[in-house]
Amino acid sequence: MMSATTTTPVDVHGLYSEIWQNREEYIMFRIAKQVVDLTPELEAKGRPPLKLSIGAPTVPPPASVIQKLTECLNEEGIHMYSTTRGELFYRQAVADRMQKRFGVTVCPKTEVCSLVGSKEGLASVFRGLITPQLELAKKEYILVPDPGYASYVDAIEGAGGLAFPILLNPEDNYLPDLEETWQKAMAQGIEPKQIKAVVINYPSNPIGATAPLSYYEACVAFAQRHGILLISDNAYADMYFDVAVKPHSILEVAGAMDCAIEFHSLSKPYSLTGWRLGFAVGNKAAVDLVALVKSTVDSCIFKVLQKAGAFAITDDGVEAHIQEVNKMYAHNQKVFVDGLKTLGWPVETMNPPKATFYLWMPIPTNYTSCVQFSQDILKKAGIVTVPGTAFGAHGEGYVRLSLVLPENELLEVIDRMKTDGFVYNP
Ligand SMILES: Cc1ncc(COP(=O)(O)O)c(C=O)c1O
Repeated sequence: MMSATTTTPVDVHGLYSEIWQNREEYIMFRIAKQVVDLTPELEAKGRPPLKLSIGAPTVPPPASVIQKLTECLNEEGIHMYSTTRGELFYRQAVADRMQKRFGVTVCPKTEVCSLVGSKEGLASVFRGLITPQLELAKKEYILVPDPGYASYVDAIEGAGGLAFPILLNPEDNYLPDLEETWQKAMAQGIEPKQIKAVVINYPSNPIGATAPLSYYEACVAFAQRHGILLISDNAYADMYFDVAVKPHSILEVAGAMDCAIEFHSLSKPYSLTGWRLGFAVGNKAAVDLVALVKSTVDSCIFKVLQKAGAFAITDDGVEAHIQEVNKMYAHNQKVFVDGLKTLGWPVETMNPPKATFYLWMPIPTNYTSCVQFSQDILKKAGIVTVPGTAFGAHGEGYVRLSLVLPENELLEVIDRMKTDGFVYNP
């Protein structure tokens, strides 16, 4: 007779590293889960979710890019491993794009690395820079914008370090004096050698702020003065609707190659978020570090994606497509902002951005908590937003909206806000 087997459960959770034990999933995925849970209830009351949360384009990618993808599926060797840094044809395409778009010369062999999306690249460089520490006094730091892309803090803390906030304020057009942040860190007892890098992000998520070249020059001087790595997150470099604020590359600045690495993404401008494709360019030792960390984790990107990606970043027709899509984002922003105005929002002082598809919206005056507002507008009106504090404590008082929905749905957002009582000054 078979005896009943007894099994001894292992406390797997108890095995988690002290760094990962109490960490939460990425905020956008937590929001997405809550929306899935609430959907039946929202649908039942005629308020199916309208998602202004995640920054993911809803327009399809350029047809020519998809065609390129399908064309090369049967090429010999295309389904085999690539290399960590990417195929040379992909890195050459990156070098060509950097030259054409920014007038920057980079060596495809040593100053370029392919990425599984720029989020991965950022996490890899943070991991390679930070020596994990449990003791607070010994922690290593990266300076990051606040409000800023939520993944910076997640990835830095996940690597065993800490993020030190660079406060972004409208008074200086979101172009803070980095030296002030440095001095603040020193005043808190952090030693210079504990700070490994500074992250800048223009056009910025969540604000949509842009930076002139003179600001980039100041950033390069700052990094050189303190002997730290300058990390430029340029995920929105091609999402702008006014040539007056056409985004720059940090590598346009003399001396940047000595201290800077820049991360680019194919996700947003080309509507290719699911492909997970990007690239890092810049200082050779920094690119080497990214490639080193990656070589132990993801091995490579599917060569088919690299082929289609190389085409996307160099083809003139695709470039024209991006500019058309940017015009649509500009139009949608105008439609939405006009709608907000009718609900009493102070749109003139909000200074709607001329880049990205984001809108940094102050919460109504009867609220003191952005989380509360975000929850209320979700549960009552089915409108999905991201509370400003998801981007750092300095984001209180705001929610971030991604204006990626078609015009009719953006108008429905305004209609629902009106019907359900979400006006600026009730
Ligand atoms: C500022 C910023 N950087 C990087 C990323 C990551 O983009 P991806 O990993 O899709 O290239 C995002 C995505 O939202 C972002 O907003």
